[in-house]
Amino acid sequence: MLYRSIGRKVGKLKMKRKQRIHIAIDGPAGAGKSTVAKHIAERLSILHLDTGAMYRAMALKALRLGIEPGDAEHVLPLLPQTEITVENKNGIQHTYLDGEDVSVLIRTPEVAKGASDIGVIPEVRIKLAESQRQFAQEHDVIMDGREIGSFVLPDAPYKFYVTASAEERARRRLAELREKGLGMDKTLQSLQEEILARDYTDSTRAFAPLVRVPEAVMIDTTDMSIDDAVNEVLRCIIAGE
Ligand code: DC
Repeated sequence: MLYRSIGRKVGKLKMKRKQRIHIAIDGPAGAGKSTVAKHIAERLSILHLDTGAMYRAMALKALRLGIEPGDAEHVLPLLPQTEITVENKNGIQHTYLDGEDVSVLIRTPEVAKGASDIGVIPEVRIKLAESQRQFAQEHDVIMDGREIGSFVLPDAPYKFYVTASAEERARRRLAELREKGLGMDKTLQSLQEEILARDYTDSTRAFAPLVRVPEAVMIDTTDMSIDDAVNEVLRCIIAGE
C-alpha cells in the first residue's frame, strides 16, 4: 500500500516536471546498492542501471586477453574495439560484452577486483560514463555506482550514499557467492580484506573516485533489512530530501 501510494506520487511528480527521473546511488562494494536500486526501480516503474556490471565486463575483456586490468598501456587500445551494452529483461539487467551475454561470468571475485583496477583508468571511465549519460537521457533511471552523483549525473535531483560496515558487507558477499556456487575458496576474512582493498582503490583514484557528495542522503544498511532500506529511500524521494 505504501509503495502504491508512493508510486502514484512519483508518477504525478514525473508528469508535472516533464523531466526524466534520475536517482543516483553511490557507495562502497557490497553495501546493498544494487539490491535496493532494483527494488526501487520496480516500485517506481523506472529502469535500474547497475554501472558496476559495465566495469566488470570491461575487466573481463582484459582478463580474457591476458591483460592486467590496471595496465593502461594495454587496456587503452581495447577501448575503440569494445562494445558494452545493457538490456533490461523483465526487470533483470543483462550485460553484453561485444554482443555476448556475460551477466553471470562477471560475478566472480577476480572480475570484481579487475573492475576496480580498470576503473582507475580515466579513459575507461569517460567511455562508460558517456553511455550511462546517454541511457539517462533516454530513460527514467535509478543508477548505482561509485561516482554517479558526483560525476555521471551531477544534476540528479535524488542522491543517496548507501553504506554498511565492512564486516557486514563481507558477510553479504559470501552469502551471495555461496548461493551462486562461486568463490568456494573464500572466507569471511579474505572477502573482508578484498572489499577493503577495493574500497581503497575506488576512493583514492585520481579521476572520479568513490565519494559521498554533501547533498547525498546517507543510508547505513548494516542493521537494516532490504525492505527498510528501500522504504527509507522512497520516503526521502517523496519528502524531496
Ligand atoms: O558495484 P560493483 O561491486 O559491481 O563494482 C565493481 C567495481 O567496478 C568497483 O569496485 C569499482 C568499479 N566501479 C567503478 O569504478 N565505478 C562505478 N560506477 C561502478 C563500479
